[in-house]
Parts: sequence; structure tokens; C-alpha cells
Amino acid sequence: MEDKELREIVNPVFNTAKSCIQLNAASGDEDSIDLLKALSFKTFDETLTEKSIPKVILDQIRNITPAYMFLIESRFNSMNNYIENRINSHVVDLPCGYTARGIKMSRQGIGYTGLDLPAVIEDVCPAANSLSDKDITYHAVDATNYKSLDDAIPEEIRNLMITTEGLLMYFSQPELDEVFSNIHRLLEKHGGRWVILDRAYSNYDKKLAQAVLGNNPILTALYNTLTAKSASEAADIKFADNVFFNPDENVVKDYITKMGFKLTEICMTDFLPEHFNSLEADPKKDAAVREIFKYMHFWELTVPKDSFVTEGSSSDNLFSFRIEAEDGILDISLTGRLDTLTSPDLLKAYQETAKNEEIIGIAFDFSNLDYISSAGLRVLLVMNKALKNKKNFTINHANDTVKEIFKTTGFDSAFGLNW
Ligand SMILES: C[S@@+](CC[C@H](N)C(=O)[O-])C[C@H]1O[C@@H](n2cnc3c(N)ncnc32)[C@H](O)[C@@H]1O
Repeated sequence: MEDKELREIVNPVFNTAKSCIQLNAASGDEDSIDLLKALSFKTFDETLTEKSIPKVILDQIRNITPAYMFLIESRFNSMNNYIENRINSHVVDLPCGYTARGIKMSRQGIGYTGLDLPAVIEDVCPAANSLSDKDITYHAVDATNYKSLDDAIPEEIRNLMITTEGLLMYFSQPELDEVFSNIHRLLEKHGGRWVILDRAYSNYDKKLAQAVLGNNPILTALYNTLTAKSASEAADIKFADNVFFNPDENVVKDYITKMGFKLTEICMTDFLPEHFNSLEADPKKDAAVREIFKYMHFWELTVPKDSFVTEGSSSDNLFSFRIEAEDGILDISLTGRLDTLTSPDLLKAYQETAKNEEIIGIAFDFSNLDYISSAGLRVLLVMNKALKNKKNFTINHANDTVKEIFKTTGFDSAFGLNW
């Protein structure tokens, strides 16, 4: 199996980034159009057309496309304006996806590092650099893995602006905790801020879409159905299943404080572009969306000095595994962190073993496993599904952190574990 296919099995979320660049290009952003070509991706419309959708439905989808375009265009450009307002920061774009932000920042001489999963970085790094005179830095990371983030940002860089759009909704609660504590450590080390648009857009995306589509209940209903469906299909997980998207804002604010951050809310209105291409110069729609932005905020998180925690965490550990196969029984011991970066190796080794003999049982030894992300859980699921008798799937010696992850994500009952 190709590396990309393995990565798709362990963490399919990287696929969601493709539609973002397609929509930015469709809205007319020239850098995005050039980058889409350099990436050899199809346009949004070409991707739609190649799906076998009946023409009447296709036409309806085309009618609601401006709403998708607007959401992506407005999110991307407002964050760009926000960054340009604080040019003494070094931008750490997490996740950068395939956006043209690196090209725009390097043109303006703003320090920039794009971070995303390996599957994205491998494509975006050469493509964006082929369009830029200056070097644009990209690094493959997993946001739940502190070491990968730390390795990506040189020691001497000060005053980070970590920008996050379209990420936090993909994490289970244990993953979100890891990401929050990792970013806390980065800000302790380098200083700066973490700027997030995820909650603003998840709260107001339907209202913005409705303002773009006008008072057309059929289009609005179609938009709502397709958004919910495509988001969960693309991510293969339940959306917004963590505290950051709790409907009660006070719960989220308490969580942010508990994780050691100070929150400042900054109204989006001052950072909106003068024109939105996807509104096609319709003044009524323009006024309607600007009214909604008055309620939307950048959430800027900083680390107060009294919230510094200097020690590292055991989850910095890298990953290794050992598979012993005898008479169709696999004894697998895992050490360190099993996450999006490390899971493809385990899956590959398992598939190679399974090629040679029928696997009838798997016994895991988790004595030295510090952490498992949903990518690791997916690999276990692949192995579990392939067994005829699910009772022959056992996990021994898991520590409390790992047990808690299984419980929170429901994988303890999925695997019939009595923890
Ligand atoms: C909806 S896209 C948004 C990308 C970009 N910000 C944009 O607006 O186009 C979600 C991105 O999150 C990335 N991602 C998912 N899980 C991640 C993780 N654990 N660490 C780093 N990036 C991750 C995916 O690869 C994908 O590029």
C-alpha cells in the first residue's frame, strides 16, 4: 500500500483542506488560483462535475456554492488582515492546509512557517515554493505531538502568532487537551499569541451562509444538509465533539483558563476586506454579512507569566513497536506515542505480516505506551475488524491516561474491553 493510502486510513482529515483551496481559487484569489494549478488539483467545479450527481441536484449545489466560497474567502482574508496588523510576529500557520497564505506572507516579508500533517506538507511545500522568489518554510507535524511542533520552530524565533482556522473541530477531547498544552508550551518558550477563528465560524457559519443565499428556504435547507453530511463524511468522525464547541460559552472560557491561557476577544469587523468577491458586489448581501461579523470574534490566547509550567511531558516520547508472530497470533508491544505521525508505520508492518499468514489473534502490550490519538485508534480498528473472532483481540497493561482515552472515545466498548 502507498504511503498516502496508509495516511488516509489513519487520519483522513487532510482531505478537507483540498476544498478550502478550491473554494479560495473559485472566489478569484489569484495566488490560490496559481497554487491550485501548481498542485495539479482540479477546480471546485471540475470536482463537482466528475461526481455522478443528477443535473438538477448539481445545479442546486452550484446555487449554494457562493455560500461555501464566502465562508472560506472571508475567513482566509480576515485572518490575513489580522496578521498584517501585527507584522512584528512570526506567523505559525497551524494547520496551513494548501492555502496561499505562505506566498502572501513571504511577498510582504512577514516571517511564516506553515505546519500541517505530512500528507499536506509534501504537496504544498514544493508547489508554494515554485511560485515564490523567497523560501517559504513548511514542516510536517501532528498538533497533538509536542516534539514535532518544537522541532519545527527554531529556538531563536520570538513572538509567535499561531493562527488556527479549521482544526479544533476534528479533535476528540483527549487530543484537544494535548493540543492546548502543546501550544501553551510553545508560547512559554517563544512568547506570542494563538489566534483562533474556529469557534466564531462554527457558531455563525449558518447565519453567514443564509445572508449570502438570501431568503431562499430551499437553498438554505440544502446548504445545511450538505454541510453536515460532507463535514462528517470527509472527517470520518463526529464533528465538534469536544469542549471547545460546547454551546455554553462559559464552559469553554473555563476550559481555556484551566489550560493556563488568558483569552482576549477581538471583534472581526475591523479586519474584514473591503470587498468580498463571492458576493459579486451585491450591496444588500454585503451589508447583511457585515452585520453578522459584528458578533464574531478572533479568540486570542496568551500565556500569563504566572501560568508557566516548565517540565516536559512523557508524551514527548517517540514511538517504537515490536511485532512477534507465531501460528497466526501477533504479540504487539508499543512504546511512546501512537499518533498521526507514527501510526502509518505500525499499520504498514501489520499489513506486511498479515500478507504472509492469516491472523487469528492479536495481544497488545501497552506497558510502555504513553499516548494514543484517534489515528492510533483507527489502526487498532483495522486490525480488530480483520479478525474473525473478536474475542482474540486483547489489550494489556494500559496506563490510566490511555485507558481514559479509550473510555472518552468509546473505543473501550467498541473493543469489548472491561476497563
Ligand atoms: C479544514 S482543513 C483547514 C486547512 C487550512 N487552515 C485552510 O483554511 O484551508 C483542516 C486541516 O487540518 C489538518 N490537520 C488535521 N489533523 C491535524 C493534526 N493532528 N495536526 C496538524 N494538522 C492537522 C489537515 O491536514 C487539514 O489540512
